[in-house]
Amino acid sequence: MTARKILTVFGTRPEAIKLFPLIHALDADDRFDSRVCVSGQHRGMLDQVLEIAGIRPDHDLDLMRPDQTLDALTAALLTGIGKVLDEERPDWVVVQGDTATAMAGALAAYYRKIPVAHVEAGLRSGNIHHPWPEEVNRKIVGSFAALHLAPTETAAEALRRENVDPATIYVTGNTVIDALHWVTAKVAREPALASGLAHLEARFAGKRIIGMTSHRRENFGEGMEAIAEAVTRLAARADVAVIFPVHLNPNVRAVMNARLPDLDNIALIEPLDYPHFARLLDISTLMLTDSGGVQEEAPALGKPVLVMRETTERPEGVEAGTAKLVGTDADRIVAQATRLLDDPEAYAAMARAHNPFGDGRAVERIVELLAR
Ligand code: UD1
Ligand code: UDP
Repeated sequence: MTARKILTVFGTRPEAIKLFPLIHALDADDRFDSRVCVSGQHRGMLDQVLEIAGIRPDHDLDLMRPDQTLDALTAALLTGIGKVLDEERPDWVVVQGDTATAMAGALAAYYRKIPVAHVEAGLRSGNIHHPWPEEVNRKIVGSFAALHLAPTETAAEALRRENVDPATIYVTGNTVIDALHWVTAKVAREPALASGLAHLEARFAGKRIIGMTSHRRENFGEGMEAIAEAVTRLAARADVAVIFPVHLNPNVRAVMNARLPDLDNIALIEPLDYPHFARLLDISTLMLTDSGGVQEEAPALGKPVLVMRETTERPEGVEAGTAKLVGTDADRIVAQATRLLDDPEAYAAMARAHNPFGDGRAVERIVELLAR
């Protein structure tokens, strides 16, 4: 039997995190000939994940440009990935989520009538401007994927509502939980992989840590400024410290560098690699974020997460009680964070570990579906 050729295409940090466990599994299984194409939509933050996961791509398009525009990026992705598809002629293309790389990679496959398997299919906020442009990216992939690998029943139901053939939809769990389990086990074996925050842990001893991330395009401008204002007000408390690995997008860095005061209890740091970010989740009392992946990881670790967005395509965390939508209004962010810090009952109600996003076995299920 000839091995089935799978080309996995991705380009950003979150896609790499959510796909490396699948690539490990495909590599270890002789039913597959696994190839990897990275677009390099992200450079530094992608490489951080490739390094820790030990993945050496077969193709690296190295497409990232400083402050890239969506149209220039998308055009380069489509032609660049198209060339790789012509060379590799895979049986399946695997993409993940809703980035420009996922959308263009899937489209290039569709143009060649190569079937697409969509990991993390069916997430919908119902608003094409929140998150922007991800809601439309994932709808595009969903309109022609041959295999829709939905992380949850809610996501599967969203696809059925869009008249996607139910026979092509499978609930697998989210591979981010597989990734989190993998990195936790790796750090348990090699603690030095996550020891780089020790100086901050010592500096902030006795304080409660707020872990933070922010990068959404729809929050650029006013939203980011309000987020900076909220952090400044929270950091006025002596019992709190903020650790904020700042995304490399210049639109995020410019605002945060200019707006956040130079206080001893605010640590603006470079993006953390995955073992260190898992450590940050571990030592944080609560997370303030507009990230998708962090909304999925925090509930698995029982960390309350305040989501700085108006809508979410991940309602499961809110329903499970570990996540709350707080938007980008400074007063609202400060009020909700203050409640968690000052009201032990409110904190206890949110700080319960749940696994609404998966059981860590999503990859096993996906592999069997790809083998069929
Ligand atoms: C992208 C995705 C978004 C995802 C996010 C995860 C799209 C349209 N957006 O947004 O869905 O949630 O990644 O983080 O696909 N940069 C670097 N080094 C890096 C990464 C980024 O310097 O390692 C800078 C570059 O100047 C780059 C800019 O950030 O041009 C924007 O990167 P881009 O991938 O276009 O957008 P993100 O906001 O990161
Ligand atoms: N993450 C990381 N280092 C950081 C910040 C985040 O490794 O400094 C991880 C985090 O654990 C999660 C993923 O990156 O798995 C989320 O990526 P991001 O917030 O950039 O994108 P999104 O999930 O919003 O698309």
